[in-house]
Amino acid sequence: MLTVTGLVRHFQAMHSGSVPVRAVDGVSFTLADGELVGLTGESGCGKSTLARTLLRLVEPTSGTVELDGTQVTALSRSGLRKFRPRMQLISQDPESAFNPRNKIGESVAEPFRVLHGVSLKKAIEMSEDYLSMAGFDMELVERYPFELSGGQIQRAAVARALACRPSLIVADEPTSSLDPSAQAQIAQTFQRINSEHGISLLWISHDLPLLSCVCDRIAVMHAGKIVECGPPGDITIRPVHHATRSPTDIMSATLSDRPPVGVLNEEFYRESQYRAARDSSGTTVRPQNTYSPFTGLQTDDKTRSRHT
Ligand SMILES: Nc1ncnc2c1ncn2[C@@H]1O[C@H](COP(=O)(O)OP(=O)(O)O)[C@@H](O)[C@H]1O
Ligand SMILES: [Mg+2]
Repeated sequence: MLTVTGLVRHFQAMHSGSVPVRAVDGVSFTLADGELVGLTGESGCGKSTLARTLLRLVEPTSGTVELDGTQVTALSRSGLRKFRPRMQLISQDPESAFNPRNKIGESVAEPFRVLHGVSLKKAIEMSEDYLSMAGFDMELVERYPFELSGGQIQRAAVARALACRPSLIVADEPTSSLDPSAQAQIAQTFQRINSEHGISLLWISHDLPLLSCVCDRIAVMHAGKIVECGPPGDITIRPVHHATRSPTDIMSATLSDRPPVGVLNEEFYRESQYRAARDSSGTTVRPQNTYSPFTGLQTDDKTRSRHT
């Protein structure tokens, strides 16, 4: 069970005089064991920062995160290192999470070598079950990451996350760089691991129709806050907040000949244009994605921004 209470992460932009970016601005929610919750919202609303903050890949400004009775936000560095396998991140760009010099089978076997101290040969044997659970074609284990398709690497990433025996997986736009058939396969894999292994899953995506098909609940984020949360039917049929209306309207616009989204949702569009202009002026920066599931190693965002 995951309980997030009043989570905040602000970034102080490097440019003097500019206001801090309230990327995550007081988020509270729970995720039951084995529950699959979708998180959606427009670009820049803070979804990735929320994902990284609740896994403590980015330190929160304030707020608490509790997973299975452990206060994640109170863990010491060494405590966090030990706890890290229990909460796994799957990113949009899984290739960056694999060492390009290691064969994919070796990388997926890494959790067993690190966590159980077994030989590489034994670790590779132990990882086979997880690779098949994630739908990875065993004939590809000798390949290097650059020799695999996006969908194949993403399945290897899922296998490696599963090998850590997590109780929580956060998947940040795991299908957005994949073609539709690979997207569907990954979606099925997530549904299966969620129902068969009781792993709680927070799935971040722009694709509201997809989330509606697979999730128990959907949360909608806007400007660092969760503005709506409920069963998919409530979100797609009776959207309450304007941030929800954009993807919903895109979906209905493609289903019937409704007016373009901009007409239906001017407020959202004005805001996203403002955000795009602010991003291109360079006052905000995006985190680089170099993530390891054991160390949580990532590009140090202190080099680009200061924790407020
Ligand atoms: N390391 C950082 N330093 C400064 N600003 C950041 C940093 N990471 C994210 N941001 C800003 O926080 C906001 C939310 O970003 P992000 O969480 O990536 O949104 P989303 O994933 O919803 O697109 C954006 O305005 C972004 O520019
Ligand atoms: Mg993001």
